[in-house]
Amino acid sequence: MSDKVFPDGFQWGTATAAYQIEGAAGEGGRGPSIWDRFSHTPGMTENGDTGDIACDHFHRWEQDLELMAELGVSAYRFSISWSRVFPTGRGQVNHEGLAFYDRLVDKLLDLDITPFPTLYHWDLPQALEDEGGWTARSTAEAFADYADLVVGELGDRVSRWMTLNEPWCSAILGYMAGYHAPGRRGIDSGLAAAHHLLLGHGMAVARVREHGIKVGIVVNQDWKVPASSHPIDLAATLVADQKMSGWFVDPVMGRGYPVEAMADYGWDMAPVRDGDMELIAQPIDHFGLNYYTREVVRASDLSEAERLDALIHGPEFTDMGWEVQPEGLTVLLRRLAEDYGQKEIYITENGVAYPDLVDGNGYVDDRDRISFLERHLTAAHDAIRAGVPLRGYFLWSFMDNFEWAFGYSKRFGIVRVDYPTQRRIPKASFDWYRRVIAANTLG
Ligand code: FCB
Repeated sequence: MSDKVFPDGFQWGTATAAYQIEGAAGEGGRGPSIWDRFSHTPGMTENGDTGDIACDHFHRWEQDLELMAELGVSAYRFSISWSRVFPTGRGQVNHEGLAFYDRLVDKLLDLDITPFPTLYHWDLPQALEDEGGWTARSTAEAFADYADLVVGELGDRVSRWMTLNEPWCSAILGYMAGYHAPGRRGIDSGLAAAHHLLLGHGMAVARVREHGIKVGIVVNQDWKVPASSHPIDLAATLVADQKMSGWFVDPVMGRGYPVEAMADYGWDMAPVRDGDMELIAQPIDHFGLNYYTREVVRASDLSEAERLDALIHGPEFTDMGWEVQPEGLTVLLRRLAEDYGQKEIYITENGVAYPDLVDGNGYVDDRDRISFLERHLTAAHDAIRAGVPLRGYFLWSFMDNFEWAFGYSKRFGIVRVDYPTQRRIPKASFDWYRRVIAANTLG
């Protein structure tokens, strides 16, 4: 027996998100979200792909959950589509939408799989965007109302929740850089969105904890490393790290916004009102880390010749162009535990897109994905050995799905989805993960 045994009770799971898998965009009373609008805007997604049909999970959810049970996971991270529950973001509840998640939860419990829902995985109701979206404070209030309603409905059976998925992506990719929905650009709109997302998180936490459930947040972090030990590279790395990680973790942990990043943005904190930072810093029960890659940070005002000990990217990249760096997972997990004092941590996403080679039967022998997962789970295990209270691992993703601006061109699943027929075909990595889960060890 190897020494890579995971602790008893370690949660083995997979993760998905509503807009990426559900499809049925115009069915069941669902209202449009910013991702419907964005993906239908010419030029915004690869091949003009949309989530209209996606994996048709809205109709195929039972067979999907049965396949998940075959995989043997003990937990499933999915997200709830806000505009299925409130088609216009607030006000009139769509009971048909709520009923979908009700059935999903019941079936998961029947299959002995712990539901681990995320309330917001980027699909803001378009009606709220029309009123300013996340740049408006009222969206944070609407989010707290929505969270309260959903947790009130499902909280008797679901005890672990996440508020936001990756607010950095929502704010920075969505409202600052324009790569994601709603496709807005500008530093001020990005930072206003970030603040209201965090405020929405805090307001929601305050409300939903009254239902006796446990709640936390999911943050994505790249491992930022300096391109050299030159002080200018070191300073740039600090700012890059603060803009991605510290901006979203520090306020939640009661430390306010990180100062070097604030100075770099030249932010006037206009959207911040008295009491906001206290609201954002509501105590949380657990913390979710999404980890995919490392970024080597190069200060733009330094020439390569000045970098005497230049560090370059490693030799291995994924289909997303992301560097493969498992060690960063250990580093970031340790930081969450040791510097921030997180007591219950989950890896809420980790996984990889590769250009899968499909045989005549639709089978993918994805040894590259297995190797990626094996090395990242080893890194997670190293963190546990170093004392990190890591409670579970959610592999991204259960099945191939709509990869946002990349449409269907990137495949992250351990189950292949043949989109024209919607056939699900487990890849080699599915069997590998099944064995890991059953043995609770990397073997
Ligand atoms: C994360 C998202 C998730 C998925 C993966 C690849 O940023 O949370 O929805 O797209 O990346």
